[in-house]
Amino acid sequence: MTRATASLLDFSEKDPFAFYEQLRAQGSPRWDDKAKGWLILDYQQCCDCERDESRFGNAYVHADATLKEIKGGGANVTLSQEPEHMALRRFHLKLLSPSSVERYRTGHIIPVVDSLIGRVADSKAFDLCAAIGDQVPPRVICSLLGMPYQDDEAMARILYLNGCIVDYIASGYRDPDLRDQALAASKELNTTLLPYVQARRADPHDDFISRVWQQAPEAGLELDDAGVLGLCRELYFAGSDTTVHGIANLFYLLLSDAELFARVKAERGKALTHAIEESLRLLNVVQFRHRICVADTRVGDADIKVGDAIFLVHAAANRDPANYGCPASVDLERKAPTDHLAFGKGTRACVGAQLARVEMFEVACRLMDAFPDMQLDPDAPPPGFSGLFIRSMRPLNILTGR
Ligand code: HEM
Repeated sequence: MTRATASLLDFSEKDPFAFYEQLRAQGSPRWDDKAKGWLILDYQQCCDCERDESRFGNAYVHADATLKEIKGGGANVTLSQEPEHMALRRFHLKLLSPSSVERYRTGHIIPVVDSLIGRVADSKAFDLCAAIGDQVPPRVICSLLGMPYQDDEAMARILYLNGCIVDYIASGYRDPDLRDQALAASKELNTTLLPYVQARRADPHDDFISRVWQQAPEAGLELDDAGVLGLCRELYFAGSDTTVHGIANLFYLLLSDAELFARVKAERGKALTHAIEESLRLLNVVQFRHRICVADTRVGDADIKVGDAIFLVHAAANRDPANYGCPASVDLERKAPTDHLAFGKGTRACVGAQLARVEMFEVACRLMDAFPDMQLDPDAPPPGFSGLFIRSMRPLNILTGR
């Protein structure tokens, strides 16, 4: 068997890129003894796996009732399998389509970003992650759901409860104490959100939950209170902690390269959108995704058996020299800037990518307007890799130039 020399799991809080290059030189896939799964490092192999659920089941193909309850139950697109999954997925793509996101830009994203920047407008220094990046995505989702996004106490409670669920999932579903904590957190989140779901059913407004109620029948979906609750819970889960790291990585890239930052500040538009894509490609919020082999198959030189775990290592595949010239450098002129794997590919690819991109764009524009002279504080703790599976470079202690 073609074994990896170290393990993917050894790179929590560390830079994994030299390890990925070393592995790639030996060929992909490689078996990881500690992670007990196949690491796929090759761009094309990742794309092929992600487009074929008949051989590579999604991470939740064997999800049990407890996990479903922890994730909020109901119409959960990530947990669902075909054919239910595709119907739900199409519905999400409509709710989060580029034209829908344009409405969310003015109605939800900009007000949230401006309210947070207003709080630090006179500051000489602050941590961009703690004050802005970590706050925007969860508050945008709460604003979309009609919840009081300016209520710090309520937001902190929701973040804490969500964190309990993330901790259980990150533990590999093994720790019984974390499981009980996650079940209690899920129950409280459902209790918090249910009144909003029920109110919009009875009295629709021009908002996200009302659109779910109104458009579900046209999409062929019969949703009840629990169904809509589950859909909203998954949006919060998938759409907050991810974009938080996307914002941090974008600003890490900009603040670490004075020439790039100057160009993006001056040009905005295409320069900024391409910088966003390069930050997603190079720094990878989601380092890897899971799959489970559901039919014996061969990938590269490896025979993969039913039940084997697979790690699609997007962070490695996004620097595959077979797909990218100068793979480890920022290049704002790439011909296909969005072809990276940061949002996945195929039937499970991210349905919230456009929302994430617009959030990152608006945070960048509005912070650059507010603090054109901002720079990393040379005397503060420098940014470093955080976490393993979902991660970013943080903290980002900045001097505002005020
Ligand atoms: C920078 C931010 C984000 C990143 C890097 C990201 C990344 C990803 C990735 C890699 C997947 C594929 C999972 C797989 O193949 O197993 C995914 C799926 C998904 N994402 Fe995102 N995401 C982001 C933001 C969002 C946002 C803002 C939302 C919603 C508001 C969202 C909702 C979802 C959902 C519901 C799925 C599951 C799709 C399905 O199963 O068909 N994501 N995301």
